[in-house]
Amino acid sequence: MSRVEATDSHEVAGLVGSAKETKPVERARTPEPIQPGSTISLSDVRAHDGVQTFIALADRYLGELGYTEHGFRHANLVSKIAYNVLHRLGFDDRTTELGAISGYLHDMGNFVSRTMHSQTGATISYDLMRDLGMSYGEIGVVLGAIGNHEEDFGRPVNPAGAALIVADKSDVHRSRVRVSDPALFDIHDRVNYAVEHSFLRVDSEAHTLTLELTIDTELAGVMEYFEIFLSRMVMCRRAAEFLDCQFKIDINGSKLL
Ligand SMILES: [Fe+2]
Ligand SMILES: [Fe+2]
Repeated sequence: MSRVEATDSHEVAGLVGSAKETKPVERARTPEPIQPGSTISLSDVRAHDGVQTFIALADRYLGELGYTEHGFRHANLVSKIAYNVLHRLGFDDRTTELGAISGYLHDMGNFVSRTMHSQTGATISYDLMRDLGMSYGEIGVVLGAIGNHEEDFGRPVNPAGAALIVADKSDVHRSRVRVSDPALFDIHDRVNYAVEHSFLRVDSEAHTLTLELTIDTELAGVMEYFEIFLSRMVMCRRAAEFLDCQFKIDINGSKLL
């Protein structure tokens, strides 16, 4: 069992190498064949000037539009959670790395427009991945994951994409709120700000993914949380099922799902 903490730090608790973790279980689902493979890593992707430029712009432009943080903090955290989910569930190293890459790139398209940012992000990622020398087969996995992460229409189509969905929707935390005056909070700011701790617990033996939240109910009620996150939770359930797991939510110690 392991858990991943959504903090404002780029470091995430409970990742690979923790003495508390159990070994990944053998998976029932046959891994998706990725042919031909390449050796392009998350580090290679991070080092690409275009990736760095576009993620920075995406965060800046979303800030102009009043959205919560979608920059390097979010990219790194989603990447690490997606990696951890796949690793803990026993996926092979390459699938796990592609999940991490998908997580890092998933919101880059926001610098073009918030609307359909998963589609623009996938399109832009194609050129960048080709530029790095990634194979078509692996680019297909990453683009399928990125292009399906929005709750309006996205569906898990591969393990990397399923892990990305759960990781992305798990990042609810007060550190994402940019508005400093609480009087100016909208419901998204209020709910995010109310979340003091957010953990995604991966139990590879029970086959469960549990989002554990600590919410200050003085700032936002549990109902408000579900008002804006219900569609995301439905998407998480589908993604967990794709990974042969059950999705659960625990808020302030109470199991709600
Ligand atoms: Fe997104
Ligand atoms: Fe995101």
